[in-house]
Amino acid sequence: MTEAPASAFTPRVFSGIQPSGGLTLGNYLGAIKRFVEMQGDSFETIYCMVDLHAITTWQDPAVLRRNTRELCAGFLAAGIDPEQSVLINQSQVPEHAQLGWMFSCVARMGWMKRMTQFKDKAGKNAEAASLGLFGYPALMAADILIYHATHVPVGEDQKQHLELTRDIAAKFNHDYGVDFFPMTEPVIEGAATRVMSLRDGAKKMSKSDPSDMSRINMTDDADAIAKKIRKAKTDPEPLPETLDGLKDRPEARNLVNIYAALSDTTAEQVIAEHAGQQFGTFKPALVDLAVDRLAPISSEMARLMEAPDEIDAILARGAERARAIAAPILKQTYEIVGMVG
Ligand code: AMP
Ligand code: TRP
Repeated sequence: MTEAPASAFTPRVFSGIQPSGGLTLGNYLGAIKRFVEMQGDSFETIYCMVDLHAITTWQDPAVLRRNTRELCAGFLAAGIDPEQSVLINQSQVPEHAQLGWMFSCVARMGWMKRMTQFKDKAGKNAEAASLGLFGYPALMAADILIYHATHVPVGEDQKQHLELTRDIAAKFNHDYGVDFFPMTEPVIEGAATRVMSLRDGAKKMSKSDPSDMSRINMTDDADAIAKKIRKAKTDPEPLPETLDGLKDRPEARNLVNIYAALSDTTAEQVIAEHAGQQFGTFKPALVDLAVDRLAPISSEMARLMEAPDEIDAILARGAERARAIAAPILKQTYEIVGMVG
C-alpha cells in the first residue's frame, strides 16, 4: 500500500470513472481495486462518477442515469465503504464545473492539443467532436484540485492527463504568486495497470471493443467469466521460468498479470509458482481465482441495482460531505483570482 508522505497538504486521494456503461476487469484491476486498498488511516478518499465527463460524447439520458447508478453499485460491491470514503457523482458537486472553467483559462491550447486521449476519442473527424471533449482534461484537473487532492490512483492511460493537472496547478500558482494547489502524485501501481484484450494482447481491454469475448465485465457471472478465460487467446508454449521469457508473448503476459493482480502478488511470483505449466493447467487455475474474486462482486452489484434509492441516498450524502471540502477551496480560488463576492 502507498503510504502518505509528509506534506503541507492533507493526504487526500481522488479518482473518477466515467459512467459511460460497462465496467471491465481493466477498470477493476487498474482503478477500483486500488481505490479500495487506499481507503484507511493515512488518506481521506473521495471517489467520483464523472457524469459531466460522460456527456462529452452523446449519452441517452435514461441510460446515463442507469449507468451512473450501476457504476456506484460497482464501487460499493467492490468494497468502497461510503462511510470511510466520500462517494459522489460529479454533477451534484457544482464546484467541479466552476473550477473547471477557471482551469480552462489557465490551460493553453498547445497543451490540450497534445492530449492523446482526445486524438483517440475524436478519431478522424475531430472537427465534429464536442468542445467539451477537447476541454475535458481541464475539468479533470478541477475534479482533483477542487479537493487539493495529493494522490490519484488510475490506470496507465491517464498518466498524460495527470501531468497536465500538475502543469495547470503550477501555472496557476506561478501566475498568481501563490502556493495554493498541490502537485498531485499519480498512483499507477500494481501488476495490472494496463489490462489487455483477451483476444489481442496488443489492444487495451475496453468497454468499447465490439467483441464481448475480449473483456471480462464486472457484471459477468461465473459461467461467463470461465468461458472467456478458457477461450482467451494464448500461444502453444508453456509458461517460462522467468518473466523475461514473456517479453514477446503479450497474451501470456496479460494472463499472468491478471493472475498476479487478482491474487495480490507480483508477476514474478506467479511465474515462480507456475513455471513450465501449459495453458491447459494455468487457465483453469485462473478461472478459479477470477470466479472466486469477481463473482461475489457481480452478484452484489445485481442486488444493489434493485435498490436505486439506497444508491441515491449514498450519493446525496456524499455530495454534502464533498461540498464541505470543495466550497471553501473554490471561494479561496475566486479571491486569489480577483472575483468580487
Ligand atoms: P475509463 O473506463 O476509461 O473511464 O477508465 C476508468 C479508470 O479505469 C481509469 O483509471 C483507467 O486508467 C482505468 N482503466 C480503464 N481500462 C483499463 C485497462 N484496460 N487496464 C488498466 N486500467 C484501466
Ligand atoms: N479521465 C478519466 C478516464 O477517462 C476519468 C476521470 C475524470 C478522472 N476525472 C478524473 C480520473 C479525476 C482521475 C481523477 O478514465
